[in-house]
Amino acid sequence: MAFETINVDVQDHVCLIKLNRPEALNALNTELLSELATALEDADASDKVRCIIVTGSEKAFAAGADIKEMSEKSFVDVYSEDLFAKVSNRIIGIRKPIIAAVSGYALGGGCELAMMCDFIIASDTAKFGQPEINLGVMPGMGGSQRLTRFIGKSKAMDMNLTGRFMEAEEAERAGLVSRVVPAKKLMDEATGAAQKIAEKSQLSVMATKEAVNRSYEVPLAEGLLYERRLFHSLFATEDQKEGMGAFLEKREAQFRDK
Ligand code: CAA
Repeated sequence: MAFETINVDVQDHVCLIKLNRPEALNALNTELLSELATALEDADASDKVRCIIVTGSEKAFAAGADIKEMSEKSFVDVYSEDLFAKVSNRIIGIRKPIIAAVSGYALGGGCELAMMCDFIIASDTAKFGQPEINLGVMPGMGGSQRLTRFIGKSKAMDMNLTGRFMEAEEAERAGLVSRVVPAKKLMDEATGAAQKIAEKSQLSVMATKEAVNRSYEVPLAEGLLYERRLFHSLFATEDQKEGMGAFLEKREAQFRDK
């Protein structure tokens, strides 16, 4: 399918989705969000894809929701259409792992999109922020909720209330991003991580994603039970026999997603 605001490329089981509205620093308008959700769903359904990367340009992952598009909307408009609800649910419904490779600005909806991915690899030029407060609004796609869970109340309040930007190094220290690499190495690092994931059994990959995400939704005892049951269920797969057998035979496992 041809897209206008994103580029999609699949190589070696990794689907690379590149946000492509350079004239607006990849601001997330309705068209881009809809195309992104469609591309993610296509990748989720494709046998050729085992891991997904979402990235932007060197200057901007995404500078937020599209302010031009939102500026004239009324409360009745945004409440009636439940602005951002459907698309957010489509994105968080993806079962294959999604890595956000972030360079430059990841602001407002851009930071929130990165947080909807499974983990964030940042270049040393990345800047994260929830500057919605400067527009007379507040975050609307998870900036007050996910960011608080990731980096704690004090830093989340600071970011949300002052609108300041957080550099990559601080973002890594705070637990928002998993790795920081020099800008030139960002895509190699993200692709390397995606290829590592692509080598695993997709059954254990999907179950692991599900279990980690569950930890944000339920109390610890429930989460541990959920994890244990998923762990038990993987013993019904051929890949468990192959993975453990390969270790004992001192060879590489050949997973078949069965
Ligand atoms: N929406 C629409 N257009 C945007 C945009 C956005 N979020 N961010 C940047 N642009 C556009 C600019 O209007 C500009 O277009 P023109 O050339 O046509 O004027 C172009 O992108 C380049 O931007 P700048 O000239 O501003 O570039 P800069 O390098 O001077 O500054 C920036 C970069 C600091 C990121 C600045 O563009 C900025 O502050 N952008 C807005 C950030 C923001 O407030 N994001 C939150 C949006 S609200 C939201 O996301 C709600 C939510 O929770 C879902």
